[in-house]
Amino acid sequence: MNPVLHFPVLNSTNAYAKTHAQELADGTVVCADEQTAGRGRFDRVWVSQLGGLYFSLLLKPQQTAYLQNLTQLMAVSVCQAVRELGADAHLKWPNDVLVNEQKICGILSEAVLKQNRFYALVLGVGINVNQNSLPDVGRPAATLKNLGIPADKSALLNRVLTLFNARLQNALTQGFAAFAADYKNWFPYLGKTVSITNGGQKLFGVAENISSAGTLVVKMPEGLREFSIGDMNA
Ligand code: BTN
Repeated sequence: MNPVLHFPVLNSTNAYAKTHAQELADGTVVCADEQTAGRGRFDRVWVSQLGGLYFSLLLKPQQTAYLQNLTQLMAVSVCQAVRELGADAHLKWPNDVLVNEQKICGILSEAVLKQNRFYALVLGVGINVNQNSLPDVGRPAATLKNLGIPADKSALLNRVLTLFNARLQNALTQGFAAFAADYKNWFPYLGKTVSITNGGQKLFGVAENISSAGTLVVKMPEGLREFSIGDMNA
């Protein structure tokens, strides 16, 4: 069981978990009903009104080789949990969960350094659950409620953590060999034309593969290119 710290309001669960990383145990979950300064990838704002599920899982892994995998294992776990509720969810690389091409979950992973060395990983998860509406952020988004799917936030949190812990345990004992196959089960874009925004450039190609390291391999006119960071769109 993960220790869970629950707050009615925080600026950001990621910020709290990072600030308190030393005194919090490995596996602690920091959860808030609302965030006043929720943050997304690429310094975007993550609007965090009442009704959404906002939490950060603090991990203190022994090695850093699999950090991207850990973030994506969380995405797979969220995807599975919302599918179990009846949503036709899939993954958009690297770690968004979409339903009908509308985003219902985003994940921001951040490293915590101690004396300039990696100390902990914070996996911050925002799931659009029971908000009645979402502000227009220029990208399609939906809540489970909008999709007609009733969900209990604490049951959803527990299910996501159960699924994540099982995958993590499996990976720690048997290695991450099964990672790509697991991820690809939830990723419907292979063989499709996608765009990748990377370092200010928008590039087009055909999504060829997800590697065991979680990178996206894209076939481009000049050959195969592997991306470890970026925004993919179909
Ligand atoms: C994204 O840009 O898609 C990632 C969004 C991550 C939002 C979550 S909500 C809980 C945690 N605290 C934050 O400030 N951000 C993450």
